[in-house]
Amino acid sequence: MKDSMKDSMKDSMKDSMKELRFNILTLFPSFFDNFFATSLVGRAVKQKIVTYRIIDIRNFGIGRHKKVDDYTFSGEVGMLLRHDVLTNAYHSLIRTEALERMYTIYLAPQGKPLDQGLAYDLASIAEKKSLTLVCGHYEGVDQRFIDNCVDKEVSIGDYVLSGGESAALVLMDAIIRLKKHVIGNPASLRGESFEKNLLKHHQYTRPFDKNIPSILTSGHHKAIFDWKQANKIAITYEKRPDLFKEYPISPLEFNALKEHVYQKFSYQQNKKRSHSK
Ligand code: ADE
Repeated sequence: MKDSMKDSMKDSMKDSMKELRFNILTLFPSFFDNFFATSLVGRAVKQKIVTYRIIDIRNFGIGRHKKVDDYTFSGEVGMLLRHDVLTNAYHSLIRTEALERMYTIYLAPQGKPLDQGLAYDLASIAEKKSLTLVCGHYEGVDQRFIDNCVDKEVSIGDYVLSGGESAALVLMDAIIRLKKHVIGNPASLRGESFEKNLLKHHQYTRPFDKNIPSILTSGHHKAIFDWKQANKIAITYEKRPDLFKEYPISPLEFNALKEHVYQKFSYQQNKKRSHSK
């Protein structure tokens, strides 16, 4: 290996962080207690693969009542989180965190829709930077905070939540499980739903009965592999035509799908006939 290559590898290793670091700006700190204490994420926190800091925005509120929100100038009914309050909460992080090592995400319905591709992109950013998640409430946050401090706005779907906290949980879950050593067997990340725009194939476990496709217990690896692929394609075709359109289907796979659709159609026709007798 060339010395220059070794140096650049050393540099990138120096840059990458061992653990996943989250900062969360929220009005409801206790919302995250169970998430960080339970299951896969709880284990990753115990093993220090995931670390987190929760900043209570209320601590930066104004006056005796710690006011954090105010009316909009454009006259909407709801209130907005004030940008001075949020900015002070945000800057409290900079005491311990270099700004260039922070990547800030605001959870909001107008953000980039979260999908598996975005989860991978953010997981890769998180190898080098801490992720700071800003949870809005009320009608949202003052635009000046977004303009000055936010790197990316992310939405978890086309619906409006009462706050960004549940969206932050979803986003962190999707990212954490991609981190090395979080999932016991990393092979299980392969062939998951959304890989190559396909959904996952049907799966079965004990007890065995006649409804389990016999090929799955045949021990014939190539046949099982082909069945799984055909099953993924058929399921995606039926349940997510939007994803299916993006899948570059081969002529062989196309024929298998045609056969599947035909068989399903015949089965349904027969069922109808036997019911009408
Ligand atoms: N906050 C409110 N609604 C949201 C959504 N759909 N996604 C992310 N954050 C939100």
